[in-house]
Amino acid sequence: MRIDVISIFPEYFAPLDVSLMGKARAKGILDVRLHQLREWAHDVHKTVDDTPYGGGPGMVMKPEIWGAAIDDVIGEGSPRLVVPTPSGRPFTQAVALEYAAEPWLLFAPARYEGIDSRVMIEYGARLRLDEVSIGDYVLAGGEAAVLVMIEAVARLLPGVLGNAVSAVDDSFAPGAMENLLEGPVFTKPPVWRGHEVPEVLLSGHHGKIARWRRDEALRRTLRKRPELIERGELSPADLRAIESFRADGDPVAD
Ligand code: ADE
Repeated sequence: MRIDVISIFPEYFAPLDVSLMGKARAKGILDVRLHQLREWAHDVHKTVDDTPYGGGPGMVMKPEIWGAAIDDVIGEGSPRLVVPTPSGRPFTQAVALEYAAEPWLLFAPARYEGIDSRVMIEYGARLRLDEVSIGDYVLAGGEAAVLVMIEAVARLLPGVLGNAVSAVDDSFAPGAMENLLEGPVFTKPPVWRGHEVPEVLLSGHHGKIARWRRDEALRRTLRKRPELIERGELSPADLRAIESFRADGDPVAD
């Protein structure tokens, strides 16, 4: 997959050399190209922003510079254009999966109060454009949001996680884990500071272990994110598990 990022802080993306994403790049699975937006600014100060029409605080990024940068980076091609903004649609695991199926993504993170909206009108008509938010809080710029999205997408690319690990058991993974949080995990030793690993995990009984993991995912989701649970999507065994949490005095939301 090719990923281009145009930013006034390309150095912000140094973590893309590390760990999983570094390896994916070294293997050629991920081709990340970073671009300094200021290279498309032609005044002596390399100005990329100006005061907002209508007044108000802060500065707005100039459309001509973004336009020239995007035109040069895309050439005759048509990547999916992703503009991070707190006013975008939520970035979810489903969106990460959609992006992982694309051959080419172009990220355009803004600083200041954002990019002149005509840039989104222009490229919304020419490319597939998504304005996306990584959560209901405001960052100082879109760069951290781009790092989050690239990491979420890169680990889904074939060959990145390796055969031994898979993304199918992740929280929010489509299929059985959709709308569920993953439950607790344990490793050796079997007793640590008096805390024991749940016995079923030592039993070697795959069916019982799978049921236990499912129950713990349901228990955790009901405690922490009850709004995620759609009872209509649960199996009779899931519903019985929820009833038994209630009987045990577990705080389960309806
Ligand atoms: N830029 C600033 N805040 C953001 C957020 N929450 N998501 C995406 N981009 C942003």
